[in-house]
Amino acid sequence: MTSPDLPAELKAALDGKLRGFSRNDAASRSAAISKTYRDGGGSGAIRSEADALAYALARMPATYAAVTASLNALVEIRPDFAPKNLLDVGAGPGTATWAVAETFPSLQSFTLLDTNEALRALALGLITDSYRLRNVSYERGEARATLAKADTADLVVASYMIGEIGDGERRTLAELMWEKTRDTLLVVEPGTPAGYARIIALRERLIGLGAHVAAPCPHDGKCPLQPPDWCHFTQRLQRSRAHKQVKGAELPFEDERFAYVALTRAPVALHPSRILAQPVITKVEITAKICAPTGVAVTKVPRRDKAAYADARRWRWGDVVA
Ligand SMILES: C[S@@+](CC[C@H](N)C(=O)[O-])C[C@H]1O[C@@H](n2cnc3c(N)ncnc32)[C@H](O)[C@@H]1O
Repeated sequence: MTSPDLPAELKAALDGKLRGFSRNDAASRSAAISKTYRDGGGSGAIRSEADALAYALARMPATYAAVTASLNALVEIRPDFAPKNLLDVGAGPGTATWAVAETFPSLQSFTLLDTNEALRALALGLITDSYRLRNVSYERGEARATLAKADTADLVVASYMIGEIGDGERRTLAELMWEKTRDTLLVVEPGTPAGYARIIALRERLIGLGAHVAAPCPHDGKCPLQPPDWCHFTQRLQRSRAHKQVKGAELPFEDERFAYVALTRAPVALHPSRILAQPVITKVEITAKICAPTGVAVTKVPRRDKAAYADARRWRWGDVVA
């Protein structure tokens, strides 16, 4: 399992960039960018080197953790997957590329696509000293145009990206990303009802084009969850000093909620059930909400069933269960 915390090389590169920048300035820029996101805006608010750095300090640890957790889930289902090349769509500061590079030693080439010049410049600055990421090519432009020109890749990733484009454009982009996917497409979004809705719409459309679900779902059928319920997961990550300062936070960790889907060209061999919320443990029983190939059900494991109860005590939200 890949750690959800930023790799030391990336942390050091971010710290290096922060030298010479005021942390108070970074904090106020980051607050302004967060407000833009909350108000429904996108990364267009990130225009300067300082904005890009403030965004990366505040958000990169969390989006990195969410992508890593999604990749860990994919690897659990497909332990033999060894992609050689990556297409990172809406790559921003390169977050998903770092996570994928950590997860798959097999990767040799990395293509990143994004419209935002400030984020592109930051991404290239962060990898300057990285031997692992020496074969990066970062194309600037609208995803639709840059994707159309890109070569196909074993792994295509769009992390916290598809929410920044309109509905019609998103459908076209989903199909284009799938066209460019030789093996697996991973899409990660915030773990909100809206993020989940975007994932489910993309999932349905691409299953219609022949895709199979590797994770998180144990089937390729319709999602059995009914609103207001939605499928999402959570990943805890450690906050560095700079991260806490930029966010004005006290706690040494945060929990990032995310939704994701990993779609593959070939059907996967394993379809384990998955835990959809943190199980509730009482002295009498353990109650867990589980998505199985047959649908979502609440499972109760009584304490008197000692072996099963001991097993279920280890269950965590997002885990697969036999
Ligand atoms: C919230 S950021 C996420 C960045 C990165 N993937 C991550 O997980 O940290 C969204 C990114 O998508 C990019 N983006 C949004 N719309 C785009 C488009 N139409 N074409 C290319 N990039 C786009 C933005 O410039 C931004 O870098």
